[in-house]
Order: sequence, then structure tokens, then C-alpha cells
Amino acid sequence: MAALLVTGGAGYVGSHTVRELLERDEHVVILDDLSAGHVVAAGGAEIVRADLAGPNIARSLDEVLGRESFDAVLHFGAKAYVGESVEDPEKYYRNNVGGGLELISAMVRHGVPALIFSSTCATYGNPERVPIAEDHPQRPINPYGRTKLVFEWALQDFEVARGIRHVNLRYFNACGAHERGDLGEDHRPENHLIPIACEAAMGKRAHLSIFGDDYDTPDGTCIRDYIHVQDLAVAHVQALEHLRGGGASASFNLGTGMGHSVLEVIDAVERVSGKEVPREVAPRRSGDPPRLVATSEKIRRVFGWEPRFPSLERIVETAWAFKEHFPDGYPND
Ligand code: UFG
Repeated sequence: MAALLVTGGAGYVGSHTVRELLERDEHVVILDDLSAGHVVAAGGAEIVRADLAGPNIARSLDEVLGRESFDAVLHFGAKAYVGESVEDPEKYYRNNVGGGLELISAMVRHGVPALIFSSTCATYGNPERVPIAEDHPQRPINPYGRTKLVFEWALQDFEVARGIRHVNLRYFNACGAHERGDLGEDHRPENHLIPIACEAAMGKRAHLSIFGDDYDTPDGTCIRDYIHVQDLAVAHVQALEHLRGGGASASFNLGTGMGHSVLEVIDAVERVSGKEVPREVAPRRSGDPPRLVATSEKIRRVFGWEPRFPSLERIVETAWAFKEHFPDGYPND
């Protein structure tokens, strides 16, 4: 069986997908600079430590892709903080666009025919209509979303010129942890809602800041479509099967179609943990659209994808279990 290259395979969504692939006896090689990834999350798969935006990346990619036959790349390795992208756009263009281009060029040099890309709802910008379908205009409002969209365009152009087929998976709010409790979200620093709410409930933070309670939503807080990380992982496996079977390039949203407000998330964390989440209302965070909810009808129809963790309560249970398992994050990092 041909091998799979997984960039960012030691990171949050990448590591859950690697586990899913290893359980299917796939041969996985991870390329990760470990700037956000964790060795313990890689499940024993080989990690080639390399920075996609580093000066030696072409050589590193040639070494890996030249030593055996690869039939696809799963590309998670990217910078993914909206706020940081506004402050440091160079980092985002160098990594997400420049690094991505190095990857595609290496695939062309070594004849790797297919790529699955971690894209994002941030490519849509402020939605004109909700729920958001794949044909919604893509007008990103921050550098993060723009760099992800540029890479989608690059893939489109390289398919025409070089025949590389691809699937763009546009995640909404990735969250939760593996149901076994040993893999999960460990960003340093953490800035995502569910882990922060868990940390506040555990007393590891004085409080959670609610970024705005005066939005035009029923309770005044932002609404998001929270999708469990294992449901994302399974979608990658289905995308891989699709491309291996000769399927055409395509883009798919990944959400549950259910919107939950910040206050609903906090309530769920309180119910699951049995503890109070101390909170304070803070100013709005810039670049936060009031409501982002997907329709994932297309991926359900084309791949038969169905979320196993559609309920917010169940998602939060897994996130809480991981936090209880590793209150200080992954060990030995
Ligand atoms: N929030 C708070 N307090 C916090 C953290 C978050 O109120 O301490 C709110 C945010 O304002 C937002 C919601 O909780 O309304 C979710 O925030 P996250 O930071 O968990 O996630 P985002 O919605 O910002 O991020 C997601 C994806 C990004 C994508 C972005 C598009 O993770 O990849 O949506 O807006 F770019």
C-alpha cells in the first residue's frame, strides 16, 4: 500500500485523523515542526520534523517523498489563529501560502496525485445567508481566511496545470476530544471557547471572558457550529477513499448544522462538569461574525458522512474528559 504524508499530523485535528488512519492500517508519515503539535499525540507514527516555511523545506520534502511511493497528502500544517493573522500577516502568508506552495511543488516533483486540505469557514467571511453552503461567496475578512482561500485557488490552478486532485474540507468550529480521553485539544496558549470554559470550571483560570453580549442573536452572544474532531477525522478518511477511487476534486463544509451560542456552551460545560464557570462580559473580539452555521448536506449526500457526535453535550463531555485526564496538557512535551 502506498504511504500517506500528513503535514501537521501531531496537531489537534491532524492527530485525530492520524489515529483514524492508523486504525485502518494505513502507512502514515507525519511532517510537523512541532510548533503546535505534540509528539505523544502522533500515535507512534514517524514524525519528520520540518517547518513548511523554513529554508530547507524543499530538501526535507524531497527526502521524504523520494524514499517510497505516496498516493496522497493530508495537509493540516498551517497557522490557525484569526487574531494573530491580523497582527502578523507575514507569518500566515509564509506558512499557509508559501509553505503550501512548497508542498504542492514537491508533490509535482514526486508524482503524488492527491491532496486533502484543511480549509475553513473563515474563507466565507461575514455570511450573507445562514446556513452557509459551499457555493456561498468566499470573501474572507482576515489574513487567516485569505491565506486559506488563496491555497484553495492554488489547488484549483495546479489541478488544471499538473493534474493534482484535491478535496477542500471547510471546517466550522473544531472541538471536543477523542472518546478514549487520551487525545484532545492542547493549544499553548489556548484561545478556543470550550477548553477555556473547562479550564475556568476547573479553577485553572479566574474567569472566562465572553467576547460581546450585544450581538443580534437571541441571547446576545455569538453563535457557532461546533463539530467534533473525530467527525472531522472520519471525513478525511472518506475524502481519501473518494480521491483514491478516482473521484473529482470538490469542496465540502463540515459542521453539524446546529448553532450554539457562547452562553449555551458555558451552560453545557457547567452541566457536564457539575462546576460553575466564572465569567465576565468583555468587549467584542474583532473579526467575530455573529453567526456561523454550516449546511453539510453536500458531504452527507456525496460521502454518506454523518456526525457521530452531533450533540453539544456529548462534545463537551469528551472535551471535559480529556481535560480531567491531562489537566496540564499533554505530558513530556
Ligand atoms: N469566545 C469567547 N471567549 C473566549 C473564547 C471565545 O467569548 O475566551 C467566543 C468567540 O468570540 C466566538 C466563540 O466563542 O464567538 C468561539 O470562539 P473560538 O475562538 O473557540 O472559535 P472561533 O469561532 O473564533 O474560530 C473558528 C475556527 C477558526 C475560524 C473561525 C472563523 O476555529 O479556524 O472560526 O471565524 F477561522
